[in-house]
Amino acid sequence: MRAMTVALTLVARDAGERRVLEVDPGTTILRAAHAHGIDIDAVCGGRGRCTSCRVKFVTGTVPPPTLGDRVQLGEDLVREGYRLACQCAVTEPITVETAPPLDERGFQILGAGAGPARPGLEIDAGITKQVVHVALPREEHHQTSDLEQLLAALGARESDVPASVLQALPRAIRDDAGAGVTVTTFAGRLLAVERGDTTAMKFGLATDIGTTTVVSTLIELESGEQLASVSSLNPQAVFGGDLMSRIAFAQFNPGNLRKLHTRIVGLLNQHVEHLARESGVLAKWIYKVVVVGNTCMHHLLLGIDPTWVGLAPYAPVMRHALVLPARELFLKVAPEARVCLLPLVAGFVGADAVAVALATRIHDGDELRIAVDIGTNGEVLLGSRERLWACSAPAGPALEGGQIRHGMRGARGAIDRVTVDDDLRLHTIGEVEALGICGSGLIDLVAGLLNAGVIDWQGLIRVEDRGRLPPKLRARVIMRGEERTIVVARAGEAGAPRELVLTQDDVRQVQLAKGAIGSGIAMLQRVAGAAPEAVAELMLAGGFGNYVSIASAQRIGLIPVLPRGTVRYVGNAASLGAQLCLLSESERALAERVAERVEHVSLATHPDFEEVFVDAMNFPRSA
Ligand code: FES
Repeated sequence: MRAMTVALTLVARDAGERRVLEVDPGTTILRAAHAHGIDIDAVCGGRGRCTSCRVKFVTGTVPPPTLGDRVQLGEDLVREGYRLACQCAVTEPITVETAPPLDERGFQILGAGAGPARPGLEIDAGITKQVVHVALPREEHHQTSDLEQLLAALGARESDVPASVLQALPRAIRDDAGAGVTVTTFAGRLLAVERGDTTAMKFGLATDIGTTTVVSTLIELESGEQLASVSSLNPQAVFGGDLMSRIAFAQFNPGNLRKLHTRIVGLLNQHVEHLARESGVLAKWIYKVVVVGNTCMHHLLLGIDPTWVGLAPYAPVMRHALVLPARELFLKVAPEARVCLLPLVAGFVGADAVAVALATRIHDGDELRIAVDIGTNGEVLLGSRERLWACSAPAGPALEGGQIRHGMRGARGAIDRVTVDDDLRLHTIGEVEALGICGSGLIDLVAGLLNAGVIDWQGLIRVEDRGRLPPKLRARVIMRGEERTIVVARAGEAGAPRELVLTQDDVRQVQLAKGAIGSGIAMLQRVAGAAPEAVAELMLAGGFGNYVSIASAQRIGLIPVLPRGTVRYVGNAASLGAQLCLLSESERALAERVAERVEHVSLATHPDFEEVFVDAMNFPRSA
């Protein structure tokens, strides 16, 4: 006999759209929603450690709050009927309002940046197009074929011809109306045959798949001109904000692995469609695609189970560069287009790090330089022409607003800059009412509070010392029950519709994030024996790195103060590296040599790591 089900009604907070699901009693709201293809963000992967999956009860009995509800949401939201969807089981018919799914509207996502053109870059994408005139088979007694005639016209002998070329061939050579046919090849392999002269139509796509954001750029392969670029949030993030929660979602679960795989392929196809529309280029004229990403993103794109990437010794399934036809990935470009994946270095240092090295030329400098790709799964590179080291620096989602009580991504309404003097001065993206705090605002806020003596070097909010503060600032430093809290904006202040606070836990999350990056940099310096004065430059890359204030980042110890070096923003270096490999086969070959040269430093197993990490968790004692 079939078990009874109960009705779960989900109302989208934004659109007011309703979906009624029949679910087995005891299923969590999050699991039920995901099973029915409804996106509810699950930044921590359903572990009750963030607030992204919060829902609000509309009808039905609101269950008693769990500890996770209390800690993550706070008493106010709990009282208003908010609960964490991942912790809340459905036992009777209920209606809940869901937060809107991840959506790129209004988000500050760093696009592809400036084009890859650099002095001395020789454009050679490896794609050739030529027009040939094919003599059609005429005599019945001729033992020939369309393909043999085409190959004869090309002066080539090719036995392994893709089916899509054979399918297009008979029409193309008969409909050419004297203009000939255009044959496209890559490294001597036939990719396409088209009627008439289409030699001017030669395009490629460079894509950087990040844990949080995905950036694709359409490029003309002769001139290197960027025609259009598009950035989106990675749609896999609804199943987990960081790599470990995403791996946990896929671990030993082929159904979930398939979901992650189809999400990313679906997004890439949306990017192709968008870029084609924007530029007027037909998707079938895209013959080469270069993809970079961290090891987990790489595996998920290929549909490879990342389970063992998430388990010691964190070995990837493969590391070498790969070239495969687009049809194998169901990418809707030319079916035989070559999809080139750059090589990986290790389980948590991927092709994106190799691309950053290419774009910054860190592997080729006379002096020691550092490149930091700040992101949910950050990476640090340190080196010169002599040697090159890399490590992963998993900052987690805190700097993107995840796991912070009133954190949000860099979207409209996010507090993105803060100054602390006798009070807090807030700036929001779009200069609209304050809705939450994003990473750059958080770093400014913590840096300012450190300078004002509100937070001490160990990260403690010094409520007991608030008497020393100017009155306005003093009034913001309070105890809420057991919790040390700073009121960033009262309801109505800076237009905030509700009170926004920074809690002691939030400060700890910032310490963990900056500790991961700071200790990554410090460990590489230690392994390389590089004193701070030996480092000539620190390059900040990645979506988040370009919005953060360098002074605030140095104040909290996210990045070091370099005695003689400079700190510079280098934009989306991973995307730039992908573009270089798209335009130049020599750069793609170089990527393999660079990947071989990278010396991976596994932080967790290094005997000094604990000491360095604990040190990096603390804040520098003075500015
Ligand atoms: S708390 Fe539910 S997904 Fe993070």
